[in-house]
Amino acid sequence: MAPLSVIFLLMIHGVSSGDWGVSYSPSRICALKDSTVIMRCTYTYPTGHQIKKAFWSKGPVRGEEPPDLSNDPEYSQRLQYLGDKQQNCTVRLSHVTLKDEHEYYFRFITDKDVKWIGKPGVTLTVTDLQVESPERVTEGDSVTLTCKSSCALTDRATFIWYRNSLKILTESNFSNKLSLNPVRREDSGRYSCAVDGHTRISTEVQLNVMYPPQNTFVGVSPCCEIEEGDSVTLNCISDSNPPALNFSWIKGGTTVGSGRILNISKISSDDSGEYKCKSINEHGEKYSDTVTLNVMSTGCLEILYASIGVVCGAAVIITMVLIWVSKWMKKRNYTPTSQMSQSRNHYDKREACDDDQPVYENATPNMRP
Ligand SMILES: *[C@@H]1O[C@H](CO)[C@@H](O)[C@H](O)[C@H]1NC(C)=O
Ligand SMILES: *[C@@H]1O[C@H](CO)[C@@H](O)[C@H](O)[C@H]1NC(C)=O
Ligand SMILES: *[C@@H]1O[C@H](CO)[C@@H](O)[C@H](O)[C@H]1NC(C)=O
Ligand SMILES: *[C@@H]1O[C@H](CO)[C@@H](O)[C@H](O)[C@H]1NC(C)=O
Repeated sequence: MAPLSVIFLLMIHGVSSGDWGVSYSPSRICALKDSTVIMRCTYTYPTGHQIKKAFWSKGPVRGEEPPDLSNDPEYSQRLQYLGDKQQNCTVRLSHVTLKDEHEYYFRFITDKDVKWIGKPGVTLTVTDLQVESPERVTEGDSVTLTCKSSCALTDRATFIWYRNSLKILTESNFSNKLSLNPVRREDSGRYSCAVDGHTRISTEVQLNVMYPPQNTFVGVSPCCEIEEGDSVTLNCISDSNPPALNFSWIKGGTTVGSGRILNISKISSDDSGEYKCKSINEHGEKYSDTVTLNVMSTGCLEILYASIGVVCGAAVIITMVLIWVSKWMKKRNYTPTSQMSQSRNHYDKREACDDDQPVYENATPNMRP
């Protein structure tokens, strides 16, 4: 008798619901993973019936009696019936997971043993958020990141964006897109998104902004005074993404080497000149400013020291000759009456000699490196 009445009632439902019916609003729900879903539901039945049992079940319905979800260990902790035994059959399901993707039905049984199931039911789809982004972009490109969900979340969802776990301030626009136009190198980072009001955050996606070499310069080691025979290292330093792997070295107008480091062992005066480097990656190239290498030849230094020696030696000899000459002159002009003046003159000569000495002593250390 009972199965027959169910069939009969279902047939009526198909044609016209009459006084029997269950309605869900909305009948399709797109829920974010881990969120709480409220399935709004109302039901009607003819007067004269009392509701003996009201519960929710899920598809696919097999066999004669659909099971009560509140007895299902997978649901019992998460399902809460918010309705009543008159007309409200709203239910709440918390911490939804992908396993909850089903069609859910409300079922009630009256005191006159009439059983009703509200078919079609509520279709629940569970989605996670995913950032969709181009992997590699070049500075200046127009880039759009999309916070993707497998089903359409409520139309008024506000999306929140994070870069390296810090919230990015964007004009809230109910759009799941983040526009970076033009994209800058500072925009590189790990991006994730969320929906306002929900704790769920998408997994992070790396955005890598490429740019040509910048701030290219030459480092010289040892730094300042280079003598013939030294080993000198020139280092081409630049900032680029990806890092430059292709370098060339230019001296005057000709290319003299490649590679980030230019080693010049046993440098000679022929290596003097203006050097610059060029740093290249697939997005462009950049020349450094020129650096000037001034190689002091040791031959040149020897000549320099020799000339200083000659000049100083000559000065000493000339001074001594002058002293001897003046002494000899004084001897020849000697008279007892001029004793005082002679002795003063002698004193003056010593002073002149002292004056000469510092010039000689100062000159030599200054010339040595
Ligand atoms: C049904 O109950 C829920 C929860 O108590 C409530 O939010 C909703 O407004 C009710 N629906 C109707 C039609 O009364
Ligand atoms: C809002 O979103 C659209 C694309 O969906 C975008 O073109 C626009 O710049 C955004 N911002 C504002 C303030 O409208
Ligand atoms: C380095 O760049 C030059 C162009 O300046 C190119 O001819 C050469 O093939 C590049 N070398 C490598 C290894 O990419
Ligand atoms: C340059 O010289 C240094 C030490 O003098 C050495 O470690 C390095 O490998 C050399 N590099 C090249 C490219 O020859």
